[in-house]
Amino acid sequence: MSNLKEKIQESVEVIRTKSKRQPSIGIILGTGLGALADDITDKTVIDYGEIPHFPLSTVESHHGKLILGRLGAKDVVAMQGRFHFYEGYSMEQITLPVRVMKFLGAKTLMVSNAAGGLNPNFHKGDIMIIVDHINLLGDNPLIGVNDDTIGPRFPDMSEPYSKELIDLAMQAAIDNKIRVERGVFAAMTGPSLETRAEYRFLRMLGADAVGMSTVPEDIVAVHMGMKVCGFSVITDECFPDSLVPAEVQEIIRVANGAQPKLTKLMKTVIEKI
Ligand code: HPA
Repeated sequence: MSNLKEKIQESVEVIRTKSKRQPSIGIILGTGLGALADDITDKTVIDYGEIPHFPLSTVESHHGKLILGRLGAKDVVAMQGRFHFYEGYSMEQITLPVRVMKFLGAKTLMVSNAAGGLNPNFHKGDIMIIVDHINLLGDNPLIGVNDDTIGPRFPDMSEPYSKELIDLAMQAAIDNKIRVERGVFAAMTGPSLETRAEYRFLRMLGADAVGMSTVPEDIVAVHMGMKVCGFSVITDECFPDSLVPAEVQEIIRVANGAQPKLTKLMKTVIEKI
């Protein structure tokens, strides 16, 4: 058995001693976007520290808990707090939880993040349904020996975010009268925010929003045949000609403000899956 599979199975075994639930949906909650976890009922909460091979989140604004429970009529597993490449972990480490979710039974991955808006039509507090991404991390979680029992060597990326789930999310937005945008998410490593020249460059590449997460998790999910539904909350406007200094506290405040809308959207999509 591959080293990676052993790690996944050791993590799964420990989680199984605490909950026998078979979640069909995995959820990753981004910066300032953890509230959805409060709506999960019958929950088992496991600190990342208790799960073998899970790194510890080093970012203050991210909790470090895996939550198994029920959301509406679905069994779910949610990460409250995620790992970022800039924390110094390897791509394999930051994406291991997604693999664990799959091995627990999840077929769908719902992910949210706080992102900077590059599209001039976007405003602070907007929600963007991610339709595609650009990986500018300079790394890929699939580099290294491939375990063919987990996924293919060269996974196709023509549909990194499920068309079916994008349609469900659009319908959920209409049903709940929530305004949403659709767009391309670009991932940069951070932790420094980008320069004006970089924002200009990202916009020229075709990106609508930029952040420091999500792309590794998406790649790993697609590798394992999961369907992904991604949302960005636009927490700051990264327009090169009118840029103001970004404050992390403000980013978190805007993310918090958008949470009720995002939570409603994600719950509606989950109901319809
Ligand atoms: N870059 C710029 N602004 C942001 C980011 C980012 O990575 N994340 C949230 N707001």
